[in-house]
Amino acid sequence: MATRFILDCDTGSDDAVAIFAATAHPGLELVAVTTVNGNAAVEHTTENTLRVLDHAGARVPVHAGAARPLARPDFPVPRAVLNAGSAFQRAHLDFPAAVSVPERRSAVPFLVDAYMDDSYADVTLVATGPLTNVALALATEPRLAARIPRLVIMGGAHGNGNVTAAAEFNFWVDPEAASAVLGAGIRDVVIMSLDATHSAPLSRADCDAFDGIGTPAASGAAQLIRHRIEHDQAGVEGSGDVSSPVHDPMCVAFLVRPDVVTESVRAFVSVETTGSRTLGELLVDTRPWCPEPPNATVALRASAEVYRDFLRTAFLAN
Ligand code: BDR
Ligand code: CA
Repeated sequence: MATRFILDCDTGSDDAVAIFAATAHPGLELVAVTTVNGNAAVEHTTENTLRVLDHAGARVPVHAGAARPLARPDFPVPRAVLNAGSAFQRAHLDFPAAVSVPERRSAVPFLVDAYMDDSYADVTLVATGPLTNVALALATEPRLAARIPRLVIMGGAHGNGNVTAAAEFNFWVDPEAASAVLGAGIRDVVIMSLDATHSAPLSRADCDAFDGIGTPAASGAAQLIRHRIEHDQAGVEGSGDVSSPVHDPMCVAFLVRPDVVTESVRAFVSVETTGSRTLGELLVDTRPWCPEPPNATVALRASAEVYRDFLRTAFLAN
């Protein structure tokens, strides 16, 4: 039986690869997508999600979600300042405009109704954007914490972050939401940290292999990953390293290939919401005398071999 899941995302190029893989893999059933403010404004992450689903020829309901973080009007450093002059974060992905449209029901009521319905008891929630929608759903209906069977999150770093030395983008964008979600008491929380995603980058050779498969999903993913590699290589001297981390699809890979994670730690985790230099930092308390019981499993290393095998299996199937 396929693993059923809802994807809460901010599409976003790596979120898009996650959607391509999710809709193609025979072991996965993408039940619905909810969108959130993050890589782009929510109207753009919604349009991008629809573009990707249309390109893949997949019909999956899309529910648009939060337009701004839980407690802040904008990112800790406003988006316009953060992305000023960035050629990487464009509002729209380079696929034809969407023909399909979002559902009328928005993300938070959808998530609440879904998880209060017994027919969703087996449906994993995968969150690859800022955790605003998930935090709002839990605030609306606290019983959700006991009803979400598993939450897999792309976010946080045990080592350095990517927006600041301390913080990874998704947790930094909405630290209050990340803190609330990790403190909600959901029984099975898996965090795919930057440490894991950076340990298993994908290469130009992987993109060539996906292109060779020739389906719209495979070529679409290759196009997006190549763009990430080109961006990461810009300004780097010589040919050297030609691979880049592709964060979000690793959460989806984990659903059917848990062996993609080769090192993890079960620990009490929390998110910094006030630090002037550490806002959005994931704190992983590995002290043997930590007074709090573990509330998450944090993936720290991953296998690039398993990761590309997962993607190849997905793209060869569809
Ligand atoms: C995360 O931030 C976003 O830019 C990506 O889509 C990914 O979810 C990586 O820090
Ligand atoms: Ca994302």
